[in-house]
Amino acid sequence: MGSDSGGLKIDKEVLQLLRRFIAQQMELGFKEVYLTPPTHRAPVRITSRQRLEELYERVKYCQRCSLAKSRKNLVFGEGNPRADLLLVGEAPGAEEDLQGRPFVGRAGGLLTKMIEAIDLRREEVYIANILKCRPPGNRDPLPSEVAVCRPYLDQQIEIVNPKIICALGRVAAQTLLDTTRSLGELRGFVHPFRGRKLLVTYHPAALLRNIHLKRPAWEDMKLLRGQLERG
Ligand code: URA
Repeated sequence: MGSDSGGLKIDKEVLQLLRRFIAQQMELGFKEVYLTPPTHRAPVRITSRQRLEELYERVKYCQRCSLAKSRKNLVFGEGNPRADLLLVGEAPGAEEDLQGRPFVGRAGGLLTKMIEAIDLRREEVYIANILKCRPPGNRDPLPSEVAVCRPYLDQQIEIVNPKIICALGRVAAQTLLDTTRSLGELRGFVHPFRGRKLLVTYHPAALLRNIHLKRPAWEDMKLLRGQLERG
């Protein structure tokens, strides 16, 4: 039940209250009454940086696998929270475990050079690993470790929303592409990956061990550069 005032339905009780309010205001000597329009609060925007920080807070004390017992630090990942390029390694090594940052050892130094070789700075990209904790003696990740850790990387990918993912080495490539095909078979192609592009190259540690891999790795980086330029 309500009275129609210019297409607006107003409840009788509200109308009475309004009349009383206006009468009081007139008694007080006011000639005009202003009604404050409802305030429209701007929607709270959560940035990718905040979302990554929130994810890190949830992950940093992870106990999902036995690597939690031997790690010194969990290595979450770092870089530009809105990077076009996200590089994925295998798992932290000794130096990364000590510092809690990805690719800071010798292989990390070479990775930084590879990034700079395609005219990017390390801070412009995002760097993460398949596993967030160091496997003892740098052994390969176990399937059970990959299974429990993988959702963290998936969330990082979703938050950073990169155009291109570059898998560094066999473990990262096979895990991300869910395949048993060899690194040699996977390199040199642009793989579709959840609406993005995924490229595969050698792990920088392999390049340190075998100098002959540097030339084909450079070909991979040129392919990567070209794909980034395409957008
Ligand atoms: N090797 C990796 O795969 N990741 C690192 O963070 C360091 C070395």
